[in-house]
Amino acid sequence: MNIDFNVKLESTVYHPDPIYQKESWMGDWNTAYQRFLDNPTRFWEEKAEELEWFKRWECVRQWNHPYAQWFVGGKLNITHNCLDRHANGDNKNKVALIWRGEDEFSERVLTYRQLYHQVMRFANALKDLGVTKGDAVCLYMPFVLEHIVAILACARIGAVHSIVYGGFGAAALHTRIRDAKAKVIITADIGYRRGNTIPLKSIVDDAIRNAPSVEKVVVLFRSKPHEELISEKQVDFYEIMRAADPFCKPQVMDAEDPLFILYTSGTTGTPKGIVHTCGGYMVGTYYTTKYVMDLKDSDVYWCTADPGWITGHSYIIYGPLAAGGTILISESVPDYPNPGIWWDIIEEQGVTVFYTSPTAIRMFMKFGEEWPFRYNLDSLRIIGSVGEPLNPEAFEWYHRVIGKGRCPILDTWWQTETGMQMITTLVGEPMKPGFSGRPIPGVIADVVDREGNSNPPGIGGLLVIKEPWPAMMRTIQNHDERYRKYWTTIKQYYTAGDLAVKDDDGYIMFLGRSDDIIIIAGHNIGTAEVESALVSHEAVAEAAVIGRPDPIKGQSIKAFVILCIGYEPGENLKKDLIYHVRMSLGPIAMPSEIEFVSSLPKTRSGKIMRRVLKAQEMGIDPGDVSTLEE
Ligand code: WTA
Repeated sequence: MNIDFNVKLESTVYHPDPIYQKESWMGDWNTAYQRFLDNPTRFWEEKAEELEWFKRWECVRQWNHPYAQWFVGGKLNITHNCLDRHANGDNKNKVALIWRGEDEFSERVLTYRQLYHQVMRFANALKDLGVTKGDAVCLYMPFVLEHIVAILACARIGAVHSIVYGGFGAAALHTRIRDAKAKVIITADIGYRRGNTIPLKSIVDDAIRNAPSVEKVVVLFRSKPHEELISEKQVDFYEIMRAADPFCKPQVMDAEDPLFILYTSGTTGTPKGIVHTCGGYMVGTYYTTKYVMDLKDSDVYWCTADPGWITGHSYIIYGPLAAGGTILISESVPDYPNPGIWWDIIEEQGVTVFYTSPTAIRMFMKFGEEWPFRYNLDSLRIIGSVGEPLNPEAFEWYHRVIGKGRCPILDTWWQTETGMQMITTLVGEPMKPGFSGRPIPGVIADVVDREGNSNPPGIGGLLVIKEPWPAMMRTIQNHDERYRKYWTTIKQYYTAGDLAVKDDDGYIMFLGRSDDIIIIAGHNIGTAEVESALVSHEAVAEAAVIGRPDPIKGQSIKAFVILCIGYEPGENLKKDLIYHVRMSLGPIAMPSEIEFVSSLPKTRSGKIMRRVLKAQEMGIDPGDVSTLEE
């Protein structure tokens, strides 16, 4: 693929009120970034010193390319910093979590003290099931408070959690359970979405067939009356909690012990189990929550992600709790029961920091300004975006209609692999629609050509990170070679897989992925995963999948399918194939269009050239096709 291209870079510049910067934790970018460059070790050490450690580290960073260790020798437990530190201090009565159900009037609140106690009890319940440090626990849950309690309980006892988004289907869940060798699964009988129920537990029942590592399934019952527990493997969430001891000391963890695995789509059919560790991840997420999102003690913070994605891990749970924030969580989707629900929640709860996705913003643009205008959004201080490029139109709308021309917008670029935010425009800095911004202090990033030479402004290239950072992934579960590839593709840099361009001020604009990953509504879907789901249908001989532009979701999936002999193309078969993908991977991976074809463009070595299909689809030049078979 040709990665060097000219990009037009003009953009309007917005200047937030100087008071934002004056009152921010970080201050101005130039000074803060220079302080980092002057002494990177001291920079990170200062951030780590704001947190509590059972034993101080001996060395801040040990870099043995491509393996980094951070806060080497340090001992900690992240939940001590997320819970005990607040619950045993002045913040004990501070609200930690406010949960809103899909039905407008269901709400639950936990103070730091209450959350601390629930986590300890559930941690003991897990211990009673035989879970010990290093065991993998898979969570497949709806977005309820118990989900967060269960996650923190794993971290409390040193179990490695692997959260699988509740929208994934049985096959996707099965792969993830097997790869992580999960000993315990925590789920609920049902989830709610747009007034419908999703049968989570029956999906788990399917997924654990042929998954010998699974010893127990913990079920949170929400429906009343609920079904009886039938198999011996199953236990009731609250029953085991009630039977458990109330006090649970945090497990002493080494800074480099694993904290969790989170699966993300890769360019092959098998998802990548990204492994994060305790110390560096804690410091990175705490630092960014406080200094980048500028979280203050009085804030009411709402991140609309789900715990099943990295954004949920880092910016609903670990970062904001470590920073002692008041966190709003909601099971509701943006448009149910009506497209005013989120603005209603912001007004009612007095949300001050709001963090969502470009897809959600574009959806609201479609519903019309009259919805947000019905509500008072004056409480908002800072608004953010993550997951995909925030296009200038969406930026302008977000800024004017939600931020009232006043709130700084944080368009944060980062990845499951990076663990923490990496590039954005700091609060109070001039903002340029279409540009995410500059690397945050602590991060050294650049746009380069294939050889790793820095590209001048206006010339597109690949985004790389030149030096390790504390919250970076440490390996990929069972596939360290896939990890090493990130750091060995271009020089000794970390290659993110994103195309980008920078302007004269060093602001970076993101232009999409350079590989076969499609980003739909901010969710990574590997083309290979969808293709193998299609091929697992009896009618399909071969399949190729591409992403094409979608006005709301950023991209959508189009599949090209070659049928097996004896099958006739037709509308019913299309529906059947879409349903098949839905059942195996989940609704997020469903193709929006299927085209039956008799051949696919391939290289002589047999690789499908998706880029040729994409160019055909979009009526553009396919570029170099010299390797095409015919
Ligand atoms: C894309 C989500 C442009 C990017 C935190 C990246 C973005 C992938 C942005 C990671 C942004 C995320 N602007 N693109 N602000 N944020 N991306 O692992 O392609 O789910 O590589 O992490 O999302 O997605 P992931």
